[in-house]
This record gives sequence, structure tokens and C-alpha cells, in this order.
Amino acid sequence: MGIECVILPILPIIVEFFMRYVMKKGLFITLEGIDGSGKTTQLELLKKRIQQDNHAVLTTVEPTAGPIGSLLRLCLSGRVKMNESAMAALFAADRLDHITNDINGIREKVMKGTTVVCDRYLLSSYAYQSIRSPLDWVIDINREANELMPVDCTFFIDVSPETAIKRIAKTRANRDIFETQERLSAVRDKYLSIIDDLKDESNIVIINGDLSVEEISEEIWTHVSALYEAHA
Ligand code: TMP
Repeated sequence: MGIECVILPILPIIVEFFMRYVMKKGLFITLEGIDGSGKTTQLELLKKRIQQDNHAVLTTVEPTAGPIGSLLRLCLSGRVKMNESAMAALFAADRLDHITNDINGIREKVMKGTTVVCDRYLLSSYAYQSIRSPLDWVIDINREANELMPVDCTFFIDVSPETAIKRIAKTRANRDIFETQERLSAVRDKYLSIIDDLKDESNIVIINGDLSVEEISEEIWTHVSALYEAHA
């Protein structure tokens, strides 16, 4: 057996160790929740806390503002009608482009030491797209993204669909195609069961979304500051 047979399987671990401890790779943090869960507010608050702690940080969102994400926004608003499996494939394609594109790909940023906080990522596809498509297929089409850009910590802000729908009604005139109480209820159930399935392999923190904005922000910061300390 050649040396390459020993090295190749553990190469990703060696690269990860080198990037994290020698090159000081940034953190990759994702925020998740059903529509109306308050994650966008928390994204901004987390960005401020990270900056105050003197780390380089970038916030971003999926679907992106890039070519595939823009098409997805038209589908979500109902302006363009599209089959949901086709949309699932577009979410995965938008994600890969978000990670790798030459202009503002997030992988390069994280590798160079910037912490990237992303509003929605893989778990959104798993929860929202597994309503209409088999979860295994959704995981498969997102495998490359997961390998290229693994998450250090995901926060799932958990609110009831009733609370979410009330918030959406208060803050927005138009609803996305997924923003019905019935759909959000099914998506929340998916999130919770998938998070349970992934609990041994992923760092996912469930946050009670009924807490105040300040309490949620404090809880998220407790976890993120611990990550920075572990990372130092
Ligand atoms: P938001 O910008 O208000 O978070 O809305 C984005 C919508 O896109 C939301 O309804 C969830 C949906 N979505 C998916 O269905 N799958 C995905 O992979 C992502 C990133 C978003």
C-alpha cells in the first residue's frame, strides 16, 4: 500500500487543521428559521458584536443577489412559476455559485480569515425542499456545497408558525409562495426532525424565538464567542 493510500483519505482533515490553526481561517456561521423568525434582525446584531470583538466579518444571504438567486426571488414572489424540484436544483446551484464565484465567493473570504454569517444555507434547502422532494435527493444535490463550505455553527431560531405569520402580516405587503401558515408549520416540523437527525454530526443550536431580541442576541453571542476562543 502506497503512502498516498494513507494520506488521501485524511487529506481533508489535514487541510482543515492547517487552514484553521495555521492560516487562521474565519468562522462560517449560518442563521436559520421559518419566514418571520427574526433571523435577519439577529444577523445585523451578530455582525455588530463580531465587529466590536475586532474580527473581520461579512454578512450575506441565500437566495443570493446573483443570477440564480435573482431568478429564485422571482419564483418565490410568484412572478415566475416553476416546478418545485427545479427550484430545489436552483437553490443548490445558487449556493455553489455563492461559495465559489470569482467576484465575491464566500469560501475564499473564510479561507482568508473573514467570518461569514449567512442568512439561510443548507438547512433551509433540507427543510423547505423536502416538503415536495425526497430529503435524500435534496441532501445529494447539496453535497458538494456541504463539502466545500462546511458550517461551524448553525442557529435555528424557533418560533411558532402562528407568531411568524403575524409578524409577516405586520411587516410586509406581499407574501412569498411559502409564506402560508400551513406550509410554515410543515417546514418547522421538517427543521426540527432534520436537526434531530443531524445532532451528532453538526453543530446546530436551537434558540427560543419567543425570547426578546436582546436575549436571543446574547445567547447567540455566548456561543459565537466560545467558538472564537476555541479557535484562538
Ligand atoms: P427570506 O429571504 O425571507 O429568508 O426568504 C427566502 C425564502 O426562500 C424563504 O421562503 C425560504 C426559501 N428558501 C428555500 O426554500 N430554500 C433554500 O435553500 C433557501 C436558501 C431559501
